[in-house]
Amino acid sequence: MNERDVLVCGAGLMGHGIAQVCAAAGYVVALYEPDPARAEAGRARIASNLERAVAKGRLSTTDRAAQLERIRVAPTLAQGARDVALAIEAVFEDERVKRDLLEQLDDLAPPGAILASNTSSISITRLAAAVRERRRARVIGMHFFSPVPVMPLVELVRGDETDAPTEAAVRALATELGKQVIVSRDRPGFLVNRILMPFLVEAMRAYEEGVGSAEDIDLGARLGLNHPMGPLALADFIGLDVCLHIMEVLEEGLPAPHLAPPDVLRRLVDAGHLGQKTGQGFYAYPRAADSAT
Ligand code: CAA
Repeated sequence: MNERDVLVCGAGLMGHGIAQVCAAAGYVVALYEPDPARAEAGRARIASNLERAVAKGRLSTTDRAAQLERIRVAPTLAQGARDVALAIEAVFEDERVKRDLLEQLDDLAPPGAILASNTSSISITRLAAAVRERRRARVIGMHFFSPVPVMPLVELVRGDETDAPTEAAVRALATELGKQVIVSRDRPGFLVNRILMPFLVEAMRAYEEGVGSAEDIDLGARLGLNHPMGPLALADFIGLDVCLHIMEVLEEGLPAPHLAPPDVLRRLVDAGHLGQKTGQGFYAYPRAADSAT
């Protein structure tokens, strides 16, 4: 097992950002997607992020080349998982998909390797149940925020069986990536989404009730609360399907009917308007970005 080798599963919005910050900190990153073309696309996004940093004079061309060199597309999961000390999954936010992947990683990764999930809402204890009993202590939530290279937080989520050495190892890694760490128990929404989602729900309700326009709601939060983005623009940025999923988890897991996802959100998601990544959400976006996970 090589302590400086990391596997990142999923090269979407979150996965490519996680791979980028790991490579910047000196880790050798295997980037895996079932379709290697998607992993290559994630690597190309990293290359263009690094190019921007070079253009702004914040990164030397030598460092850019070295960071990119440390990110390799894994042709198969078996090849990517071999020898890694840590695998971080950032695949589609669906319990079945994540459990299947963890089950495979349990077979393929070295026995002591940590399996971290970037889930924003699924119970870590339930995800850990997908692996053999002896690995469960090595399963932990490592929740990054988007855009990963910019947002300085990692929320660690301890499942019921996560042990202290696993938490310490992942905390040390997050610190090395330049992130501040907070720790949440394994409860619906963890800490940050439990705070954020009610805010988004209320913004969507105010919009749906016609209390104000989308632009005014967002301007209110930006200028009145000093938020970098208003709540509706933020929901578009996160992905409306992701928001809906997290709200459903909160509604089901907490005794809080006011957290029920607003109709306007369901209608947009039903219509395939998922925010920035599809080019339409509460706002229209000129160009669709890649799919988010
Ligand atoms: N990848 C890498 N870097 C990016 C980036 C991206 N996708 N988007 C912006 N940046 C960088 C820019 O390069 C720029 O860097 P420098 O200052 O070094 O030049 C910096 O971020 C600022 O970017 P911009 O000037 O283009 O734009 P901005 O000032 O409007 O900031 C923003 C953009 C950082 C996205 C800002 O609007 C913001 O912080 N928004 C809120 C984001 C947020 O709340 N994220 C958390 C969402 S919740 C979540 O992720 C978890 C969940 O479970 C739902």
